[in-house]
Amino acid sequence: MESMTIRLQSSSIGSVGVHRSSCSAVGKGILSGTSWSPQVQQHLRSKFAGANLRAQMLKSGRKYCVIFGALPTQAEVATSAFEDELSNIDWDDLGFGIRKTDYMYLMKCGEDGVFSGGDLFPFGNIELSPSAGVLNYGQGLFEGLKAYRRADGRIVLFRPEENALRLTTGAERMCMAAPSVEQFVEAVKQTVLANKRWIPPFGKGSLYIRPLLLGSGAVLGLAPAPEVTFLIYVSPVGNYFKEGLAPIQLQVETKYHRATPGGTGNVKTIGNYAPVLKVQRSAKTEGFSDVLYLDAINKKYLEEVSSCNIFVVKDKTVSTPALHGTILSGVTRKSIIEVARSRGYEVHERLVSVDELMDADEVFCTGTAVVVSPVGSITYLDRRVTYGNGAPGEVSQELYSALTSIQMGLADDNMGWTIEVK
Ligand code: COI
Repeated sequence: MESMTIRLQSSSIGSVGVHRSSCSAVGKGILSGTSWSPQVQQHLRSKFAGANLRAQMLKSGRKYCVIFGALPTQAEVATSAFEDELSNIDWDDLGFGIRKTDYMYLMKCGEDGVFSGGDLFPFGNIELSPSAGVLNYGQGLFEGLKAYRRADGRIVLFRPEENALRLTTGAERMCMAAPSVEQFVEAVKQTVLANKRWIPPFGKGSLYIRPLLLGSGAVLGLAPAPEVTFLIYVSPVGNYFKEGLAPIQLQVETKYHRATPGGTGNVKTIGNYAPVLKVQRSAKTEGFSDVLYLDAINKKYLEEVSSCNIFVVKDKTVSTPALHGTILSGVTRKSIIEVARSRGYEVHERLVSVDELMDADEVFCTGTAVVVSPVGSITYLDRRVTYGNGAPGEVSQELYSALTSIQMGLADDNMGWTIEVK
């Protein structure tokens, strides 16, 4: 068998030479290279499979990587090539975009439906068969949740088990196995901790966590993929809409629909999102922030905005469309309903007509990405109504502040919604 010496300083990170002679490695770190022969890969695999070395081999594009020993510390990572990217971040102007962070989490399951062997890997491209179920037939789901850095430095997650449960429901609908709630939450914690330095300072934003569940196995005929991949990546984010915390301008869509009864509108499948792009782009061209969809049967009841749920307020009573199969059960939607009720508001989940929307005192949207976004105006056909003279409504402001105070640790978490990550 081919053999080699891996000259690696304890705790070094980055590409190192791989030489043919004897193989030895000490310490911990990430070893990567671009041209390892199958023999070298085989040798590395067997060498690092030792009991006292936790090693994983990953092929990412043309790059091979072995992670061994404990993961590099934050300080070690901070001296790596990623440092420049971090120091270039303007924490006061994060917006909602993707930034390359340090690690992602990967876990797979085969036809037995059991997820195992999940681990962290350097953030990078993943390899998929051209006939992967997700690429050919859209067999995929995503989730979104956030980690927050509090004033005392503690890192918390908000209701991650809700996302895990929603992923399970979606996976059942999409014919995929899902990780258990415990596996999901543990994977989220590991990914957040490994990317801790990317969590924005207190008050400047949050770390958006994006779990994916993908039919990654190869299929040709229409069938569930024989392998499913669970992946989590993260990115520091600020406000979702370019308006920041200012009210957004919505257009009611009258031609296209987001979901139909019996479809998949109530699960977070990737296929629900691509069809809204055309409508959203045309609305943005006309100066709107986003689009609000109506039900596909009566074309008069509110469903949701492309990326979030909707609430209307009339005479201090809060109403939101009920969940009956076409609307996503948002974690923020659910939390706002509970927060509002706990503060004495009457909240109704029911059919809400577009006429009521046009007659409301206040309108706001909720979602993990958008948090609680006040709506400044709605345009429906050729009619435009404005709310609150351009300022956020009182109820939406109160609920935004109540929710974010719990998330940021500025108010007691009597609901037990936050989980510390350490
Ligand atoms: C979220 O709010 O987390 C979402 O998944 C919506 C997405 C379109 C950004």
